Formats: sequence, structure tokens, C-alpha cells
Amino acid sequence: MEKYSILVTGGAGYIGSHVANAFAKAGHRVTILDTLVYGQQPPRINAKFIKGSCANSPLVENIFKKENIDTVAHLAAFIEVGESVKNPLKFYDNNVSATVNLLKTMALCNVKNILFSSSCAVYGPPQGPLCETHAKIPASPYGRTKLAVEWMIKDMANGIFNIVQSSCHPRLDLGSSSTSQEKLSLKLNNKQKEKVFLDCLREPRLISGSKAGMTKENIESEKKLTKNSLNYTIFRYFNAAGATPKQGLGEKHVPETHLIPLLIRAIQNNKSVKIFGTNYKTPDGTCIRDYVHVSDIANAHILALDFMQRTGTSNIFNLGTEKGFSVKEIINELEILMNKKALIKLCPRRAGDVSKLVAVTTKAKETLGWNAHRSSLKEILSDAIEWEQNKTLEKLKSLSRAIHF
Ligand code: UFG
Repeated sequence: MEKYSILVTGGAGYIGSHVANAFAKAGHRVTILDTLVYGQQPPRINAKFIKGSCANSPLVENIFKKENIDTVAHLAAFIEVGESVKNPLKFYDNNVSATVNLLKTMALCNVKNILFSSSCAVYGPPQGPLCETHAKIPASPYGRTKLAVEWMIKDMANGIFNIVQSSCHPRLDLGSSSTSQEKLSLKLNNKQKEKVFLDCLREPRLISGSKAGMTKENIESEKKLTKNSLNYTIFRYFNAAGATPKQGLGEKHVPETHLIPLLIRAIQNNKSVKIFGTNYKTPDGTCIRDYVHVSDIANAHILALDFMQRTGTSNIFNLGTEKGFSVKEIINELEILMNKKALIKLCPRRAGDVSKLVAVTTKAKETLGWNAHRSSLKEILSDAIEWEQNKTLEKLKSLSRAIHF
């Protein structure tokens, strides 16, 4: 398998750290870019860490050049469905606008491969198991931001990315030797590059034809030659869950809003946990989700990167287990594994939630040879319990160190 230099945005997050770790273990060179806004720490894995935002174009351009990046795994995003209903602009700004900047910088620097973490939240209305072609009518602003980015990436792959390369990137549009092209590239500062880029977006054909001396036919033939020059793999994750406790990787959201870690902590500490909605059209009235082990999700990235590079094709894959569990079923299973009853508080529905999200994953299985090997509910929950217990032990240890000091 060929080795790549990969930028993982959001690589200090829960899924991002697993993905970055999987890439590093597969022998790829990994650079993590993460703002750490939710209080997470850089993961202790074999990767370079840079604190910052993918919206910061000069920073990203610098990383692309310095690390010779050829692939971006874009996981940086706000993820909480309920919060997106209350504060949609925050989500459009962080999830969509920042990605526009990232894609612009990718185009300017000729970085041609992207793996994007989308979500099953793009589907709707969710009746029955969901395959990739199911109608996309997201029920929340979060889902709409994910769908908007999917569209942007697809549009870039179909056209603009190529035109930007041929007409805007100084290394490609002057027809001189690579050394003099490089020199000219260095002469343009970021502001100038940005201006050329924006001109190009406004009037791509005119700029290409007039400024780079290219005819319409030239452009069309170049577009054919470089068709699909932006390769993408879009993953629609279902509910990522579980942990890799031995590697010190797991869920550490601040504040935590996800069902499984909240339940484990509540059971551990004899606190109550809320069930949001008991009147959904499901057998027990609570929401059904498809929980997939986070390490299975990470593994799909390794397989997809190899497939995308070998075949030069772009694809969208669901990542789930094809099995759904209700909130009440998760509670029952955790009570058995932890040998303790949970204290439950029945609450109204949470805004943005849908009754049932369960994947069809035939495409990932058949195309990538992917399987959710570690995603039995028991394994997911056992790993999550071990992770939460380790965190509690760590806290106790540091507390006792502080007392003895
Ligand atoms: N739930 C409760 N009580 C809680 C927390 C959650 O009843 O305290 C319920 C929710 O209402 C939902 C289910 O448990 O029905 C799962 O909720 P999570 O918050 O764990 O996960 P979500 O399905 O809301 O969202 C997660 C990610 C999204 C991703 C989505 C895919 O946060 O980014 O999975 O389904 F898009």
C-alpha cells in the first residue's frame, strides 16, 4: 500500500483521534490540525499536532507546503444536533464557511484528495434502513451543514477545482519550466493568490481564456484530462460509539451530550439520566440508532484512502452496522454489563431528533471489503465502560497526588 502525507482536521476529537491513529499505524505520515475549542487534548499518538483552524488559510497553506500534504481527512466540525437547532449560525460558520476556506486552500495548493466525515443526519424522512441513495432531507441544521459540504465537495470535483488549477495556480498556468513557475508562485503573496482565486470563481472561463491565454477548447480538453482531479470519499457515519481504552482514546466531549457516556457516568455515580421522548413510533417509544464502533469507522478510512488512490474514483459510503437499538435497549444492556440499575427521568423529545436511523452498508462492504468487526453492542459498551472507568481512576490518582503534594 502506498504511503501518504495526511492532514487530519479535528484530529484531537473523539473520531478524529481514532482516524489519525489508524492512519499513523498504517504507516502514513499524519499531521493533526485542531482548535481544541472543546477542551480536548492532543492525542498521544504518532502524529504531528498543530493547534489552529482549517478556516485559517495561511496556516493551512503553510502546513500543506511544509508537510507535503497530499490528502485531507476533514473531521473538524460541531456535532451536536440539539445545539445546532438552538444556534444554527454557529454551525454554518464552523462546519460550512470553514470548509469553504479549506477547499479554497486545497485548490490553491493542488491538494487533490479529501475524505470527509458526513453523517446519517443528512437523511430524511428516515423510514426503514437507509442506503446512500435515500432522500436527503435533513431534520436539523447540523444535518444541513453536512449536506451543504457534501454538495460543495461534489461540485468541486466536477469542475471548479480543475479550472482553479489550470488558470489560477501559478505553477500550472504559465507553461514555463517548473523552476521559474515555482519562483513566480513564491512571488505572489496570500492576498494576491486569494484575489486571483476569487476572480476565477467569479468568471472562470473569461479569466482562464484572457489571463492564461487559453481558449475555451483548451479549457474543455484540460477539464477532460483532469476530470475528477479532486478525489473524494464521503463517509456518512451512523452513531459512533465505544473507545480504544488501551490507546487512551475515547469520548471526552465537554459538555458531554451523547447517550452512552452519559448513561455510564450516571450509573457509576448513582445519578439520573434523561430519556428524550417516549412516544416515538418505535416498538418501545424511544429513538432507535445504529451504534458503530469508532475503531471500525477509523478502519474504513484506511481502506477508502487506498481504494480512492488506486481507482481514482470518488464515492459516498454509509458506515453503520445495519442494526438499530432503542434508548431503552441501550439502558437494559448497560444495566446488565454494569450489574446495576440506572435511574431514569422521562423527558420530552429533544429538538432535531428523528425516530430511527439504521444503515444499509452493502456499498462499503462490497466496494472496500469493510466490515464492522468490533461493533457488537456488547463490545461497544464494554469498551466505553472501560474507558469511563480508566478516566475515573486517572482523576482519583491525580487527586491523591495533589493531596500528597
Ligand atoms: N438521548 C437520550 N438522553 C440523553 C442523550 C441522548 O435519550 O441524555 C437519546 C437521543 O434523544 C437520541 C439517542 O439518545 O435519540 C442518541 O443520542 P446521541 O446524543 O447519543 O446521538 P445523536 O443521534 O443525537 O447524534 C450523534 C452525533 C451526531 C451524528 C449522529 C448520527 O452527535 O453528530 O449521532 O445519528 F450525526
